[in-house]
Amino acid sequence: RALHDPHRPRFHFTSPGGWLNDPNGLTHWNGVYHLFYQYNPLAAAHHRIHWGHATSTDLVRWTDEPIALVPGTDGPDRDGCWSGVLVDDGGVPTLVYSGRHGERELPCVARGSADLRYWTKDRANPVITAPPEGVDTTAFRDHCVWREGGMWRQLVGSGIRGVGGTAFLYESDDLRTWRYVGPLLTGDASQNQGELDWTGTMWECVDLFGIGDSDGDGTDVLVFSAWDEGSTHHSLYWTGRYHGDIFTPTALHRLDYGGRYFYAPQSARDEHGRRIMFGWLQEGRTDEANAQAGWCGAMSVPRTVTLGADGRLHQAPVPELTELRRERVEVAPGPLTDPYTPLHGVRGDQLDIEATLSLAPGATARLVVRETPDGAERTVVEVSRAYVGARGTLRLHREASSLDPTVDTEPRYGELPLDDDGRVDLRVLVDHSALEVFANGRPLAARIYPTRPDEAVGVGIGAVGDVALKRFDAWQMASAFTEGPRPLWP
Ligand code: FRU
Repeated sequence: RALHDPHRPRFHFTSPGGWLNDPNGLTHWNGVYHLFYQYNPLAAAHHRIHWGHATSTDLVRWTDEPIALVPGTDGPDRDGCWSGVLVDDGGVPTLVYSGRHGERELPCVARGSADLRYWTKDRANPVITAPPEGVDTTAFRDHCVWREGGMWRQLVGSGIRGVGGTAFLYESDDLRTWRYVGPLLTGDASQNQGELDWTGTMWECVDLFGIGDSDGDGTDVLVFSAWDEGSTHHSLYWTGRYHGDIFTPTALHRLDYGGRYFYAPQSARDEHGRRIMFGWLQEGRTDEANAQAGWCGAMSVPRTVTLGADGRLHQAPVPELTELRRERVEVAPGPLTDPYTPLHGVRGDQLDIEATLSLAPGATARLVVRETPDGAERTVVEVSRAYVGARGTLRLHREASSLDPTVDTEPRYGELPLDDDGRVDLRVLVDHSALEVFANGRPLAARIYPTRPDEAVGVGIGAVGDVALKRFDAWQMASAFTEGPRPLWP
């Protein structure tokens, strides 16, 4: 086992070792950010999931805390403590999570110590003993819990067999006794099977929040991870209105063009009133490679989520991340006349790049990262503008990201909103195998695994058609963990 896996991110959060998946229990509590996560400390494989825990005061540097939840020796969570949330129950931090026993997951609660380190599970767990009666559910797990009108409300992710994914709404006075209200919204699984916006047969990790105008006249958002026994795993969101006991959708959108590479997100409002979201950047290499590495799964960088003028979510890395910026290299603005020019001054596998481009109709611009000197391995971020209208496309080409035939190199793409000037504000975070792209507020996360990681550090830029570079800055990024790589334990 390599002591320092060159693919291990250094400013994206990873677990100390073992398996990491969903972010859980996100909260900003007395000035401290708490990130809990689905965790198997024993191996880099999804098995008998615990809740890992890390804290931060700046959303940049994280401190590992003791494991928060361990599956019981018996009881309803003996096979795993699955995804859930943290709520403030009159000053008592309280977790609501899915206890797994056999193939079944049911809601459980645990009360925390004042520092959120030690958790006591309720003797009465599970607090809901079965999915709603008379409904043939595909699954029943993951929680969104909030306070409303002097009561607690909860959503549990699920699916109705033969119909579609859903979120069941419950109500409670005390987080322990729940009354079933009904489905908040149900998808239609017969629509667009296999498409990038297919809502699937089950909704994992539902997350409901209001955004925009705080007078209650704003937009509500229901984020969910569309799941199916087959291969569908992607996160989507509905915009619409949550009113009474139902959610009336206006439109359905993809949350991140990376598909399964930004999965099972969870968000929370922080003490500054911002909505902060994390997602799980799952691996694109084989289970054997993960096991060999001894760690797997990264968190996205924390993102702020706001409502754009177009009624869509606008996502960006939290501004705090710029604290890790070190040496800056600037590229002079001007027209991009060549299809490709290596930028010899910019190189590295830990970079934060900000560029502003202006694309004429029919033009395409490319930013190449992690390129080997011979160009055999390279990853291409591409933005293009249609000949007519303000339509654009953001693409990530990973076909040449790695010569390793066992890693995923499928391209990714999605719609890019453009104004009449064809302006593109591009932000690219390169962190070893973790890559996050933001173009006019639309995100695309993915993983890349060059086989020559020490050489795949080149950066270049180019264009076809009429493209003006308005600005280009690249910074070397420091590690968020001690000095250098995140050490692997045990
Ligand atoms: C999403 C998910 C959740 C579940 C957890 C298990 O990735 O499958 O539905 O609670 O992960 O680790």
